[in-house]
Amino acid sequence: TTVDVLADDYELGGFPDFMRKEMAEQPEAVERALRGRLDERFATAHLGGLGLDAMALRAVRRVKFLGCGSAYYAGQMGATLVEELARIPADAEPASEFRYRNPVVDPDTLYVAISQSGETLDTLAAVQELRRKGGRVIGAVNVVGSAVARECGSGVFLHAGPEVSVASTKAMTNMTVSFAMLALLLGRVRDLSASSGARIVNGLRALPEHIEQVLGTDDAVREVARHYSKATHMFFLGRVRGWPVAREGAQKLKEISYVHAEAYQSAELKHGPLALIDPDMPSVVVVPDDELLSKNLSTMEQIKARGGPVIAVTNADLPDGLADHVIRVPRGEPELDPIVFTIALQMLAYHLAVELGRDVDKPRNLAKSVTVE
Ligand code: AGP
Repeated sequence: TTVDVLADDYELGGFPDFMRKEMAEQPEAVERALRGRLDERFATAHLGGLGLDAMALRAVRRVKFLGCGSAYYAGQMGATLVEELARIPADAEPASEFRYRNPVVDPDTLYVAISQSGETLDTLAAVQELRRKGGRVIGAVNVVGSAVARECGSGVFLHAGPEVSVASTKAMTNMTVSFAMLALLLGRVRDLSASSGARIVNGLRALPEHIEQVLGTDDAVREVARHYSKATHMFFLGRVRGWPVAREGAQKLKEISYVHAEAYQSAELKHGPLALIDPDMPSVVVVPDDELLSKNLSTMEQIKARGGPVIAVTNADLPDGLADHVIRVPRGEPELDPIVFTIALQMLAYHLAVELGRDVDKPRNLAKSVTVE
């Protein structure tokens, strides 16, 4: 019955903590997010809750994602997907800053307010500011009936199921999955070809299996975490698609292990932070097998040349000796790489935190939903 399912969601069911349970639930959570929303015939997505018909979707000239913390990084992944698939300008901004800067609200922009809980005060306030100024705002929310969902009135529910752990895992994954569908839909009412659309549909369908494969590397990731458990600082580096992945990886590590982590765009390294590289500063480098692979290989070379340990998270075949440790993720459609790479970094943060004896579900100073300014 429904009651049993709900009770299960709040019980550990043999897992040591909720974060681990919720990470393990990601394949099924993604299945739920995709259910009934992919259209093979027209190689597109259906997101009925948006309340936007084809003409309204065509009229969107820009997309802005707003969220806090991990929801903001998911928005950054969403913006990249929208630009890649729909070729319309898109960006993401922390919702927590939005209302304070007297934002220019543009009638041709589709604003997307992102929140797992739907109760984050900063995100709610951004939605209120947008509505006050006549902006078109939809929600990307997990909790049905929450304040952000109600204030937006339309949008896409994440269907991740209840998330108990303070560190967001399955909800964040479903945010990015939902934005891939939104980008596909926006692309297919424009010039994204049917064959490219079909490639993304198939890539999305393959995600649950790919996520299972990432989760299956748990022992190897734990070994890497053990090796670096004495580190007091870490860099997370990525470029373009990999940049929000690096930011989320650093965020998770800080949040649950209290190890200082900083994320940089790989190309920014040489403009300052390279000075910090030494044998005590490990770098986690996001290395997808995509058009930027050679650039990421040189990032690793630059770090190695200065004695910095390198942990590569990759689905490419790397030349010997470039990385000290490798965390392997499966190959999928390159646009969707951020989803599986992010899960590998959740696992790294998780194992480091466990190794350090942290309370992963309830990190100090943090609350599951931030309902204060
Ligand atoms: C995620 O691991 C964090 N706990 C935090 O950044 C969170 O994503 C943020 O506070 C936003 O929460 P929301 O999605 O419920 O609005």
